[in-house]
Amino acid sequence: MNNIPDIEFRQVRYSYADGYEALRGISFAIGHGEKVALLGSNGAGKSTLLLHTNGLLLPSAGEVVACGMPVEEKTLREVRRRVGMVFQNPDDQLFMPTVEEDVAFGPLNMGLSAEETELRIAEAMRAVGAEGLRKRSPMQLSGGQKRAVALATVLSMRPGILVLDEPTANLDGRTRRTLMATIEGLRTTCVIATHDLDMARALCPRAIVVDEGRMVADGPTAEIMRRPDVLELLGY
Ligand SMILES: Nc1ncnc2c1ncn2[C@@H]1O[C@H](COP(=O)(O)OP(=O)(O)O)[C@@H](O)[C@H]1O
Ligand SMILES: [Mg+2]
Repeated sequence: MNNIPDIEFRQVRYSYADGYEALRGISFAIGHGEKVALLGSNGAGKSTLLLHTNGLLLPSAGEVVACGMPVEEKTLREVRRRVGMVFQNPDDQLFMPTVEEDVAFGPLNMGLSAEETELRIAEAMRAVGAEGLRKRSPMQLSGGQKRAVALATVLSMRPGILVLDEPTANLDGRTRRTLMATIEGLRTTCVIATHDLDMARALCPRAIVVDEGRMVADGPTAEIMRRPDVLELLGY
């Protein structure tokens, strides 16, 4: 055990090319094994923040540190090996002819052997309850199946830190519960951007709330969800 945070943001600011400042001074530290919900209304900056955790976006000012490494050009490969990102839209994650090739892509890219890759595929498909989909074409899956497979493509790399952008959006009740059980069973650190307050309460002891690129709350989820200003912000 050590006390280096898994993810740390230090006064992070980010402006898009059109000049819009989507992050306006974000600071927090997430320790190993924590599960943290990232809450906020549409356009608050959740996706922009998540994209900074593995260097898909680099700050305009301030610093992101993952497992003690500053996230910058020369650490990207190592950072991305540790921080696995599941995008909001699974179509952004799935591009091979078959599911198993998509799930194998990360491990093979990391230089793992065919045998180890096969183990990783089996493990990841089992974790998301999608063993039956291995030979299918990702393009032909249902929305919920795509979500599960997109998660498997990231789990196969065994990231220590898992970042999920609205994983339960548009899922039916049963598929949503299956996905929640999968996430609950993971021992990795998780950061989950979501509008699904029930999931946040069920899975994440801690929540961070953002509004217009600023943090308005960071603390125990149950306490934060009793705050009138937060409920108002989230539309309750
Ligand atoms: N590529 C982009 N160019 C300019 N502005 C963007 C871009 N992507 C997002 N934004 C703006 O940044 C803000 C935060 O967006 P986003 O991080 O997607 O919010 P959330 O995920 O919380 O809905 C919004 O105002 C959005 O319009
Ligand atoms: Mg978003």
